[in-house]
Parts: sequence; structure tokens; C-alpha cells
Amino acid sequence: MGRSLAMREGPSQNQTPRPKTPFEEGENPMPQAALTARPSGPLRGRVRAPGDKSISHRALILGTLAEGETRIEGLLEGDDVRRTAEAMALFGATVSRASESAWRVIGHGGFSGPETVVDCGNSGTGVRLIMGAAAGFDLTATFTGDPSLRGRPMLRILQPLAQMGARYLCREGGRLPLSLAGGELSGLVYRLPEPSAQVKSAVLLAGLNAEGMTEVIEPEPTRDHTERMLRAFGAEVDVADGNDGRRIRIAGGQRLIGAPILVPGDPSSAAFILVAALITPGSAVTVEGVLLNPLRTGLFVTLKEMGADLVIENERDEGGERVGDVTARASELTGVDVPPERAPSMIDEYPILAAAAAFARGPTAMRGLLELRVKESDRIAMMAAGLSACGVGVEEEPEGLVVAGTSGSNHAVGGGGRVSTHGDHRIAMSCLVLGLGAEKPVSVDEPGMIATSFPGFRELMTGLGAEIE
Ligand code: S3P
Repeated sequence: MGRSLAMREGPSQNQTPRPKTPFEEGENPMPQAALTARPSGPLRGRVRAPGDKSISHRALILGTLAEGETRIEGLLEGDDVRRTAEAMALFGATVSRASESAWRVIGHGGFSGPETVVDCGNSGTGVRLIMGAAAGFDLTATFTGDPSLRGRPMLRILQPLAQMGARYLCREGGRLPLSLAGGELSGLVYRLPEPSAQVKSAVLLAGLNAEGMTEVIEPEPTRDHTERMLRAFGAEVDVADGNDGRRIRIAGGQRLIGAPILVPGDPSSAAFILVAALITPGSAVTVEGVLLNPLRTGLFVTLKEMGADLVIENERDEGGERVGDVTARASELTGVDVPPERAPSMIDEYPILAAAAAFARGPTAMRGLLELRVKESDRIAMMAAGLSACGVGVEEEPEGLVVAGTSGSNHAVGGGGRVSTHGDHRIAMSCLVLGLGAEKPVSVDEPGMIATSFPGFRELMTGLGAEIE
């Protein structure tokens, strides 16, 4: 259990129902009926992946912490990000649609106490970053989420925040729902026990409103969007590489000023489209404007090592990040050993890599993946079960997965499984992609969860020639 929490008197309860936010008005949930992917003909075309999820969350949160207007072009309109937008409205920002492609956040230079429970839905990134940002202010907030999020570990955030002076009360095992009381924080030097950009970001965001200097040491570099965006909003953030890892320092008491944000295409979503093209004979598909930050592109490196015909063109800088157009053509893949130290740069891509590995000649070993067991589902177990259901040889290890791949002259993958996704969007999309290249259709339950990160997935894929219904 957490440290004692003297609940403060909150603002008076608003008796009138809260008006719908623009996000709720536009909500269009996907049907919950199972989806089935059938062996498909060549996939062809040029598409744009949805906006990057990590950058979208951060743009909304930093926009709320900042003073003035933040215009966000290309925001991901998935359920996870909608939840963060709604949360930011609860913490005092005005969030509205500015145009067909842009959103506007008006921030007041900080968070104010929310009048009701903050429900972050399925999003670990949302709840963890928001808790970090909220801890710097004199407020009390109660957080919850859907059954998947309520089962995920939060002590990794709460412990460093408590060391800085925040107080919390949570369920046994550090689970949601929990209440957090912030304000009067002191700076902290914190070495990440696990490579997690969410933990790093939560501590840095708390440090922004702490007394003195906050320093995070990460033994293995993780995605650096928080550091980059803090600078875009006018904060000073020092980053230095040393013998013990990367040190990121931020001084407390810095003002953020609203800034325009251009959200690039999400490489974690592009991955499903590109792997579908690699495993479907005769395919050639280009995904435009994909984020190419090297801390996010481990999957592309791995696929190239496997012999994938993956070409990156038109590389350019957009809104402080490197982006490019990525083309995948159907390829004969070969199994590889993925170096464990590459995990942080492709942590969300192991499910789709496991699907690609099913089509490769020889085994693919993925190790050092303990973190995969505490994602939206236990992704090691879920992929092992999904692949087995589709006739793919797979060995589950405590911290990894070895996919047998094909051997001899038979490169076929059976398919034919009905996969239980345990409400995990990436498991659902990975198994559907597998079905496009397999001999028999693959079905997944709970396809509505796909909208957490990739709204319009089915429509985009069928537009390229995939049979998913
Ligand atoms: C994210 C960090 C990763 C990743 C998640 C998004 C982020 O989580 O899996 O989807 O935006 O910071 P961890 O920090 O737990 O590794």
C-alpha cells in the first residue's frame, strides 16, 4: 500500500452533468463482433499511418501544462488519446477541434484539481504521464481505467513520485483505482529500474514543477519524445551520455509556452501495414510520413536483417522529428536472433514481429522481454497462444519467445485459428495480419479494442486489398 494520504477538501461537486467534450461527440465505437482476415491477394497502394500515439499524448499534456495555445496537427484520434484529451479538460485545459486535421489546447500554465474521477481507459501512457504531470501541483486526483489498465503496475510511477514528495493511496499491488495528492515536490535523482519511457517521462514532468534539479538516469535509452517536446515548449532539458547510461536533467520552476505540434505517422501502427505487405505474395505498399526516430525503429532494423525489402525514401525533418516514406514489398524472410538490447526501440512491435517470424525460414528468437508481460495484456503468453492456435511452432520462455518459422520447401503458415486477444489491440492486429498470409482465415475476438491505437485499421487494410470482415 502507498504512503498515507490526507485527502484534501476538493472543490465543490458540480451537480449539473458535465457537457460532452468534442472528443465524446465524435465517438464512433467499432462493432464488437469478431473480425476475420482471409488469405488475400497482393496488397497495393500508398497510405498514411495514424498519428503517433506517444507524441499525441504528450502534445495534449504539455499543451495543458503550458500557457496559451498549442495547435496539434495530425493528432491520433484513437480511444487512448481521446481519454487523455478528456482528462486534460478535467485538469483545466480547453481542448477543441481547430480544423478537419488539427486540435487546439488552451493551457493555463498548470493543472487544477479535477472534479471527478479521471478514467484513462486502456492507456498506460496516458495515466502514467498524467500522474507525473499532476504530481507537481497542489491537487488531489483519483485515477482509474478499464480492466486491462486496472491490472497493470503503477508503483513504478508512484514510488519515484512519492520520493519527490507526492502522496498516494492505491489498491494492493499498486493497481488502479488510486488517488494521488501532489504539490511541494523536491527534485530527485532517479535511476530507472526498468527501461521505460513512461516512467522517465512521469519523473521529468513532475520535476518540471519540483524544487531544484531532477535527473533521470536510463541504462538503456528509451523513446525521447518528452525531452524533445519539452524543448519545443521552451524548457531547458540537458541530455548527456555517460558510462552508466543516459542522464536527463530538468530544473524545476520552468514555464512552458504553447507551441505548434506536427504529429508524424506512428511507426508502431505502420508496422502492421508493412508486415502485411511483406508476407502477402506480390504486394508493394508505401506508408507515408512515418516517424523515424531511431529510438522507435528497431523493428525496421530487424526486418531488414531478416531479408525484408523495406525501402525508406524522402527522409526529412518535420516538427522536430525525422520522418520518411517506407515501402515494403513481399519478401522471403529468414529467422534471426533479435538482440535483447534492441527491445526498447521496438517494445510494442514484438507481436507483429512474431507474426512475421511465422513466415520466415528458420527460427526467430526474441529475448529480454519481461516488460512485454505487463503491457495491455501478457503479450508473450498471448502471442504464443495465438500462434499455436494458427499452427505455428512457438516456444514461450519466461522472458521471451522463439518462433519456429518454416523449414524445408514448405513455407506455408496454416492459420485457421480463432484468437483470444484479451482486449489487446496489438495482439488483435498482429493475428489479423497473420491471417492475410496464411492458408486459412484467422479470427480475433474484441476487435473494438483496435480503435485504441489504430482507428480505421480495417478500412485502411481493405483499401489496400486485404480481406478483413
Ligand atoms: C510509451 C512507452 C512504452 C510503450 C508504450 C508507449 C510511451 O511503454 O510500450 O506503448 O509513449 O512513453 P513503457 O514505458 O512501459 O516501456
